[in-house]
Amino acid sequence: MCGIIGYIGKKNVVSVLMEGLKKLEYRGYDSAGIAVVNRNRVKIRRVKGKISLLEKSLEEKPIEGSYGVAHTRWATHGRPCEENAHPHRDCTGTLVVVHNGIIENYLPLKEKLKAEGHKFRTETDTEVIAHLVEKYFNSSLEKAVQKAIRKLEGAYAIAVLSTKDSGKIVAAKVGPPAAIGLGEKEFFISSDINPLLSHTQKIVFLEDEEMAVFNENEVKFIDYKGNSLEKRVDHISWSPLMIEKGGFKHFMLKEIFEQPQVVRDTLNGRMSLDSGKVCMDEIGLSPQVLRKIKRVVIIACGTSYHAGLVGKYFIETLAQIPVDIEFASEYRYRDFILDKETLAVVISQSGETADSLAALRSVKEKKALSLAVCNVVNSSIARETEGVLYTHAGPEIGVAATKTFSAQMAALALLALYLAQIKGKINKKESLSYIQALQRIPHKMEKILNQAESIEKLALDFVSFSHFLYLGRWVNFPIALEGALKLKEISYIHAEGYPGGEMKHGPIALIDEKMPTMVIVPKDRVYEKMLSNISEIKTRVGYILAVAFENDKEIHGRVDKVIPIPSANPLFTPFLTALPLQLFAYYIASIRGADVDQPRNLAKSVTVE
Ligand code: AGP
Repeated sequence: MCGIIGYIGKKNVVSVLMEGLKKLEYRGYDSAGIAVVNRNRVKIRRVKGKISLLEKSLEEKPIEGSYGVAHTRWATHGRPCEENAHPHRDCTGTLVVVHNGIIENYLPLKEKLKAEGHKFRTETDTEVIAHLVEKYFNSSLEKAVQKAIRKLEGAYAIAVLSTKDSGKIVAAKVGPPAAIGLGEKEFFISSDINPLLSHTQKIVFLEDEEMAVFNENEVKFIDYKGNSLEKRVDHISWSPLMIEKGGFKHFMLKEIFEQPQVVRDTLNGRMSLDSGKVCMDEIGLSPQVLRKIKRVVIIACGTSYHAGLVGKYFIETLAQIPVDIEFASEYRYRDFILDKETLAVVISQSGETADSLAALRSVKEKKALSLAVCNVVNSSIARETEGVLYTHAGPEIGVAATKTFSAQMAALALLALYLAQIKGKINKKESLSYIQALQRIPHKMEKILNQAESIEKLALDFVSFSHFLYLGRWVNFPIALEGALKLKEISYIHAEGYPGGEMKHGPIALIDEKMPTMVIVPKDRVYEKMLSNISEIKTRVGYILAVAFENDKEIHGRVDKVIPIPSANPLFTPFLTALPLQLFAYYIASIRGADVDQPRNLAKSVTVE
């Protein structure tokens, strides 16, 4: 939800900020803007629409400066238009601010500031920050920012500059992330590390109620009272190449193809075929503590929620611990019951999703033990949980989550096996057979990816449908949900995921020749039941595509098209069934000419509630 970036240094400021903005564009893309300081005057350019339009505007009429800030927007308050695009100014135009988040009390603040004579130009919540800093400005920008932010309620990561205290950028945050990049005589503030990697791998993550104040020579970290802080410098090992498309048409396609490696990377080093053991030393929760766990609650949003749902089947089957799975946005408002024997597992690729973070904080208030499954190292959720199990998926740029979904499932399979081992629920032989089954998954995924061309051809026949149904049962019910989510978010085709057995309780009424159904039907404990569901659809002239084992001869006479996958241990089939559905959604969206990596109305990291 919005990306902010700021830079002071010797490089071409506009280029650094624009390149950075492009890497943040996945966070929001309905308008964009930049402000640079040139001979102590602020130059601003803003446009409605994508960053490419801002770039075009700057090519036609360049601006230059010695430092500056920039923003890519996902509108919350105020429609997307040039005037509402960031950076926002104070009355004098000498002070600008970029903001990611929501100021909840902006209306009373705005009314008060207006009554005091401040002139507002926009419909945004952010503009109050500029006027508040203006109001409190005396001679030091950081002091004015400190006073201003004490008045704010809500969530924000901000970067502010003013020509009245020139050569300086002040950053502060409560909620959304703010990473400070430390270079050689150059400093950056950014919503995530992606724009920083080509300049520096030395990063400091601001915590809530912390500020960074930097000029060309130095950066200082202070709290909201002005006390100096000693901050840890993280050395990030992600390489800048990881955030390039590498010859693929879209990031999403590249990320789909990275999945076998991502699963290998997430499993590697954490399980042993010699000992039959899963090793979780790194997660920060001891086996003694985890052994006492009697219940697991998984909390997540979107695709991470679907991975959590798969994780529920893994944990219940292997570790025999009851698992509840909850939408973070709902859970936090419930009168939920937790105790010290419950492990709360918060799954989040970004580690910054506001709903998941808020739910985690409520869980911690009830003293439950917490474990994050995160992809972004040192993200807010990873920092606030007692334990962290990292997925090793590398940066995911496509807004639609794909490789991080597989990595999350891999991490959850490991967690399930680990809990099963420490609770004595499986013996060495069983453990070895699951480890072997998991180790074979990446190669099987590669075989599915080799069929991408035939899935593309298949997709051609379905580009003009308006509705789709996805059915799965047992461990593939979550994959039906995920397949439907992928299709709707990138192709804008309405799709519903359903458990096959629930069809007869309502959705079967929808079936006709205009509503194709994708069934996920590997040979598992519900195979026969799925065949019955397939017959029910066929009787009602519905068109059926099936994801089924390649050695399943029976399925061919029962459905219209089959997407074959290699056979595998039934429990781990979600790793395989998810892939064709991702590819199917991708090709349909791509053929329809949709903006696959940046679907309308969405943002990669949802840092507002
Ligand atoms: C899925 O394709 C979406 N990008 C979205 O549902 C996402 O999974 C959700 O917003 C949760 O994000 P997180 O994993 O970063 O918390």
